Amino acid sequence: MSETSLPFNEKYYPSNEKISSGEKRKQEWEKSLSNPEEFWAEKAKAIDWFKKWDKVLDDSDAPFYKWFQGAELNISYNALDRHVKTQRKNKLAYIWEGEMGEVRTYTYYQLYREVNKLAKVFKDLGLKKGDRIAVYLPVIPELPITLLASARIGAIHAVVFSGFSADALADRINDSGAKLLVTADGSYRRGKTVAIKDNADRALESTPTVEKVIVVKRTGQPIQMKEGRDIWYHDALAAAGANVYVEPERMQATDPLFILYTSGTTGKPKGVQHGTGGYLVWAYWTLKWAFNPTEEDIYWCTADIGWITGHTYNVYSPLSVGVTSLLFEGTPDYPAQDRWWDIIERHGVTILYSTPTAVRMFMKFGEEWLNKHDLNSLRILGTVGEPINPEAWKWYYRVIGKERLAIIDTWWQTETGGFMIAPLSGIELTPLKPGSATFPLPSVKAEVYDEKGQPTPAGTKGFLVIKSPWPGMLQTLWKDPERFKQTYFGRWQNTYYTGDYAVKDPEGYFWLLGRADEVLKVAGHRIGTVELESALVSHPAVSEAAVMGKEDAVKGEVPVAFVTLRSGFQPSDELRAELIKHIRNTIGPIATPDAIIMVNKLPKTRSGKIMRRVLKAVIVGAPLGDLSTIEDEASVEDIKATYEDLRKQLTK
Ligand code: PRX
Repeated sequence: MSETSLPFNEKYYPSNEKISSGEKRKQEWEKSLSNPEEFWAEKAKAIDWFKKWDKVLDDSDAPFYKWFQGAELNISYNALDRHVKTQRKNKLAYIWEGEMGEVRTYTYYQLYREVNKLAKVFKDLGLKKGDRIAVYLPVIPELPITLLASARIGAIHAVVFSGFSADALADRINDSGAKLLVTADGSYRRGKTVAIKDNADRALESTPTVEKVIVVKRTGQPIQMKEGRDIWYHDALAAAGANVYVEPERMQATDPLFILYTSGTTGKPKGVQHGTGGYLVWAYWTLKWAFNPTEEDIYWCTADIGWITGHTYNVYSPLSVGVTSLLFEGTPDYPAQDRWWDIIERHGVTILYSTPTAVRMFMKFGEEWLNKHDLNSLRILGTVGEPINPEAWKWYYRVIGKERLAIIDTWWQTETGGFMIAPLSGIELTPLKPGSATFPLPSVKAEVYDEKGQPTPAGTKGFLVIKSPWPGMLQTLWKDPERFKQTYFGRWQNTYYTGDYAVKDPEGYFWLLGRADEVLKVAGHRIGTVELESALVSHPAVSEAAVMGKEDAVKGEVPVAFVTLRSGFQPSDELRAELIKHIRNTIGPIATPDAIIMVNKLPKTRSGKIMRRVLKAVIVGAPLGDLSTIEDEASVEDIKATYEDLRKQLTK
């Protein structure tokens, strides 16, 4: 999206909401920045602490900020125990719908019992506070149960999205040093079974730290259970007994809760580490502020729990607030293109929190699919994961929202723990603009910087940065504090670098314009181009690889790879198919390139750096542009020739 085409002056006033000037929101924001400790001490009252903090914010070792220093709490206690002591005991915590249409429900009390049983299993296996538990599961109830049981005993969970390959799983297990893996016999995808236990078995050949594997029976497909290592989940829970209570571990607010791996600008994924107290307070308040859930709401966040959105907004936020959430295992268009609308109608969903890719997909399917259903239960809509283009926003607003419902476009990242820029129906809604996430949340001092670290004038694109600490921020990168400092605070002093482009319009609305670094957002999934390049060059046929994003009408962007081949290899469709298979095996199907272009030569500077700008111009069919500003004294003629050659190959 280019900033020149953004509709800065279009305003929308959803009729379901009271829309006002934003004064109240502004006051909250100012209060949070002028006296963060007072502000958060007040907000932290919403959480049950075993012991109060000595200091709300210790910034003596910035950027390693410590929130609620000295306090003690347990997240599973906040998500479960405190509700089961109230009228929420028999309220539904989860309504789960499986890919094949089966439905399972859990009240807060039932969830509490399951979590206690699994926590006992973990303890009986010898797991203790600080141990890591790797999790490789589809979206089934056992997934949040595993996370909560891990939190209950003070272990640190490291969830790996179940669509990742064996190699990707092994890398993440090894980096985290997990002792235990929780996985399933299989998962479902469009009615077919996926052999995730086979992937896990392959990964486990090279993960020496894993001692035991707990296997959930999901599909019933035949699998190998390794003697002495693999345990069935149902057997372990049955052995734990019926009425089990495990005392929740007293955790320091600053103790890590989980590691979640995400892509950056190098080949090695980053282990984003989130803590306990600050994260929970942020998870609780961001949900309240943005969606303002009530006791009656049926809240559906469509994310997979394998990603941060699922961690925060399918598990820790809704459970700590005491909301009823819907969890769905499947895909939006299976068995038919109205699957989501059918789910919303049958379960009476009131809050739908989804993605721009899903919206664009539904636009493509056509309105007839949703016209078959009564969607009147919906009262508010949300979106996350990638920029929402104004056309998609307007379609969501008009067709799903019937011009009644607010669109809560939430900008945030794995690293931020929760929402950072979003309309806040729980404080005060200002007029909405199609494609803008509006204003920063309390404690978020967002700015747009130019290359030199100066704020850009209104309406000018630049780098989005955050100039203040907030409770949900990552603590560090797992076992890599230097990389944490460098990546996020290395560019400008005391300034969190998001890696995103943004523009602030003359009225102060923020418009998020996608990544400014070598990270792609493919259907909302975060994929590093360098990861893809490393995967490609690890194949014996590939000499060099350069990957970039190409705009896509549904997925936002898709990866396109340019490769040169080693001598002895010829371009062919078979080789292309083999390289795609290789990427699926090394990273996973989500990283599959849209095209692999085999070329004789890549455009390079004299110092040998691949000129991505030239490749980008090739992909979009743009003119080469001015080459005189190239950082290095490159051979302009050579680059032009390569460019023409590539264009020719591409249009062949
Ligand atoms: O580029 C931004 C984009 O997603 C990135 C973060 O990706 P991840 O860590 O996977 O977390 C996704 C879910 C929070 C950001 O750097 N992004 C996320 N939300 C938005 C967005 N871009 C534009 N608008 C959003 N609402």
